[in-house]
Amino acid sequence: MNQNFNLYSQYYDLLYQDKDYGAEADYLHQLINRYRPKSTSILELGSGTGKHANLLAEKNYNILGLERSAEMVEIANRTKTKNVDFKIADITEFQTNQSFDVAVSLFHVISYLTDNQSLINTFKNVHRHLNENGLFIFDVWHSSAVNFQVPEKRTKTLQNEVIQVTRHANPIIDTEQNIVEVNYTIKVKDLEDGTTFHIEESHPMRHFSKPEIELLAYATGFEVIHKEEFLTKAIPSAETWGVCYILKKLS
Ligand SMILES: C[S@@+](CC[C@H](N)C(=O)[O-])C[C@H]1O[C@@H](n2cnc3c(N)ncnc32)[C@H](O)[C@@H]1O
Repeated sequence: MNQNFNLYSQYYDLLYQDKDYGAEADYLHQLINRYRPKSTSILELGSGTGKHANLLAEKNYNILGLERSAEMVEIANRTKTKNVDFKIADITEFQTNQSFDVAVSLFHVISYLTDNQSLINTFKNVHRHLNENGLFIFDVWHSSAVNFQVPEKRTKTLQNEVIQVTRHANPIIDTEQNIVEVNYTIKVKDLEDGTTFHIEESHPMRHFSKPEIELLAYATGFEVIHKEEFLTKAIPSAETWGVCYILKKLS
């Protein structure tokens, strides 16, 4: 299995320092209040460096974050707050004896599941770990945006007091499998002595259409109760890269 994020994890928070995790946690809190008020427990799939989990815990949820990359979990554990726990686990096959009111999977984690069996295993697993009428909230790459806008090569540079990180992303599109393989080259420069090195990682990402998610939900015991553009709440269109789906567990 592809173990992306092992090396990349060290630079993850720097590369996404402009991402507004606070606004995203507020947005999730609103969705939970609207669709399953009085929820108190959250299972987070692909919890990364733990930012959403810590912010949601401040809103009085108990959270368990599951994350495949041991390096990401190590970073998450450094900032862990009250009512939050992180475990190294693969979301396609995790098991815990806890059950939760809500499961969340944020910043395209589900798009990292590129084959049907992994998706079915994950959704069934989430279903098993949810309480009655539990919600499964996640955002994924949206097929119509990927097909109409087509991902391009991109470069992003960010720095802190110690290092400068430049990330080149070179996407290779597999139109038959609905997968975009994003090949990252990450150049790291030590700002004190000027030395550089680089790492490479491949991140295959699957994009999904609305009927595909509806079918997946139906096959695994869920109903799609709402979908919208992640954060803006706009109706999904060919302009929408990230669609947020809200699924309800059927008993
Ligand atoms: C783009 S990051 C998002 C991290 C975090 N949710 C955030 O918003 O910052 C995707 C994360 O999903 C994790 N991931 C991908 N596939 C996984 C799997 N099968 N099991 C557990 N974690 C997985 C990666 O290791 C990575 O941390």
